[in-house]
This record gives sequence, structure tokens and C-alpha cells, in this order.
Amino acid sequence: MEEKLLPRHIGIIMDGNGRWAKKRMLPRTAGHVQGAKTFEACTRWCMELGIECVTFYAFSTENWKRPKDEVNAIMKLLSEYLDKVMKMTDENVVLKILGNTDPLDDILKEKIKRAEDASVGNTGMKCCVALNYGGRDDIVNAAKTLLKSGTDPDSLTEESFSQHLYTAGLPDVDLIIRPSGEQRLSNFLIWQAAYAEYVFMDVLWPDFSKKDLNAALDEYARRNRRFGGI
Ligand code: IPE
Ligand code: IPE
Ligand code: MG
Repeated sequence: MEEKLLPRHIGIIMDGNGRWAKKRMLPRTAGHVQGAKTFEACTRWCMELGIECVTFYAFSTENWKRPKDEVNAIMKLLSEYLDKVMKMTDENVVLKILGNTDPLDDILKEKIKRAEDASVGNTGMKCCVALNYGGRDDIVNAAKTLLKSGTDPDSLTEESFSQHLYTAGLPDVDLIIRPSGEQRLSNFLIWQAAYAEYVFMDVLWPDFSKKDLNAALDEYARRNRRFGGI
């Protein structure tokens, strides 16, 4: 049997937590709690499938617009996410946070550092959490770094520019999965997704199952990626 073509890098927009909770007449935070459980399970499914890299969109640079209580609840959960991924570093997982961590509180920052340190030397699946991440911020941040370093503009290439993005060293994203029914990128990996395949699904993130992941992977395997060629 022919082996199914797998993406090297999957990006997942974990959307629909609020609607999941609303449907059950629960507070929005209950949706985030359930969504965090899906995150943990999904990391494991990707590991079992032998995926090289997966990036979960957990909090965008625009999500600060939400009510303070909701933002605080999400931040608390993110801290719990990190505990979960930290345990997976014992199973050779490499944890990486993508985004601007400066505005995060010190306890969360400390946890990020510990979790990233715990991955040093690991060679297994890369599990990235996009946290206070914005694609535009990613590009502006890279440009700032380059300008500050006095890089010769004429020496700049797409490849060298990429090395200053939060995703430096990671392969471009091949497949973006967005549950919840929304069909947009919402500022996720806009540079890295230049040639990604998109799979939008009607399921809400807390209900997202292994079957849904497999369905998205089947759909990806059916796509014909041309990268501008024929
Ligand atoms: C995604 O779920 C979680 C974050 C953006 C942090 P939402 O909270 O956006 O859920 P909906 O879109 O309101 O259903
Ligand atoms: C995108 O979801 C961000 C995350 C899932 C972290 P949003 O719910 O914030 O996106 P919009 O506002 O519907 O575009
Ligand atoms: Mg949403």
C-alpha cells in the first residue's frame, strides 16, 4: 500500500471554544478549558502520526481586545498547557513558543523558559504554541531585528529574512486546519503560509477529534500542490 503524503508542518487555529460553551449555556471559559484538553490530545495524535512539526494558535495579538476576565482565564490555561507540554518533553518533544512574550506576566514567562529549557537536546516532534502571536507582528519584528543589526539591504533574501521570524529553523507550514467554520487566517503565520493548503472544518475546536485530524490529512493528501509550476 502506498504511504499517505503527510505535511511536514501543520498549523492549527484552535477556534470555536466560545461557541462550544454557548451551545451548552456555559461560560466562555468552560469552552477554553475543554479546548485545552483537545490541544493536549491533538499533540499526542500528531506525535503518533510522526508529524515533524505542529503549531497551535493559542492567543493572537488581537485577542487582547477581549474582556479582561476572559483574557485572564486564557492566560491561566496557557500556563496549564505548558505544564502538559512540559511533561511531553520527557517523550522527546521540542517545545517552542512563537510570538512576543514581553507583555506576558512573569510567572508565565518563567514557565515558558523552563519548558523550552526542558526541550533542549530533544529531537522529536516540534510542538509550537503561538502565543501573543500575530503574523504582521512577526514580520515587523524580523524587520526591526534586521535594521538594528545594520544588515546590508542588498544581501537580504527570502531565506535570510525567514531566519528572523519566530519560526526560524522550522519548515514552512504545509497545512492549516481551522475548525469552527470560519474561513480566514486571522493573522496566523501569514508569511509562512504562502503556499499552505487550507482545510476549514465545521467542527468546534473542543469537539475536534482524531477522526477530524485524519479527515484533514486525507484532504491534504488529495491536493495537488504546484508551487507555481505545472
Ligand atoms: C478560540 O476560541 C480561542 C481563542 C481565540 C483564544 P474562541 O474564543 O474564539 O471561540 P469563538 O470563536 O468565540 O467560538
Ligand atoms: C483566532 O481566532 C485566534 C486563535 C484561535 C488564537 P479568533 O476567534 O480570535 O479569530 P477571529 O476574531 O474570529 O478572526
Ligand atoms: Mg473565535
